[in-house]
Amino acid sequence: MSGSADAEKQAAAEAAAELAEDGMAVGLGTGSTVAFLLPALAARNLSIHCVATSPATERQAVDLGIEVGPFDGIGRLDIAIDGADQIAPDGWVIKGGGGAHFREKIVAAAADRFVVIADSSKPVDSLTPPVPLELAKFGLAATLRELGQVELRDAPESPDGGVIADYGGPLGDPAELAARLAATPGVVEHGMFPPELVSAVLVGRGDTVERLTIPA
Ligand code: A5P
Repeated sequence: MSGSADAEKQAAAEAAAELAEDGMAVGLGTGSTVAFLLPALAARNLSIHCVATSPATERQAVDLGIEVGPFDGIGRLDIAIDGADQIAPDGWVIKGGGGAHFREKIVAAAADRFVVIADSSKPVDSLTPPVPLELAKFGLAATLRELGQVELRDAPESPDGGVIADYGGPLGDPAELAARLAATPGVVEHGMFPPELVSAVLVGRGDTVERLTIPA
């Protein structure tokens, strides 16, 4: 990843860190953009309580002195901040390049505001495959047969015991594909995040941070 992409990720992450306030419950995403968010959040010295979407994020956050706890006794989060692989003009987002999309989607859905942070390579004219999947191990061959064009990723199983894979078939209408994937038994979660889930998109572009408008 180029230095300028890293600078853009850092700029977007720092802008998002400013959205956190004392007393908030904050969801922390996963990935190289979130890796810039965590030090920016830590530097603000806020009194916040966080949940992490991956062991890697949890480790980095704890090392930075951010309070992170389990996500089984908290019903809602004030804000969640996370990266993305692709961001479409209509607000559909593909996530899961790092295989953390199952936990990321639960955290995003639980948040009053879900803020996507990205460098300028992530906005696209239209979404293209692959779409990350987390699949149940039980009946895996049958699930793969049902889904069609799916490749298992050469990656460890998820922290929840799921198999990480990528759907490489035609994407077409994102809502239709998302519904089909969600309705396929054995698909634990897919990486398509609908516009209704996304509150704001902050994109680092050169020296500036653009706020993309999500159509209502
Ligand atoms: C993790 O599984 C992903 O959803 C990441 O949030 C996404 O792939 C963006 O990652 P980067 O910030 O590393 O580009």
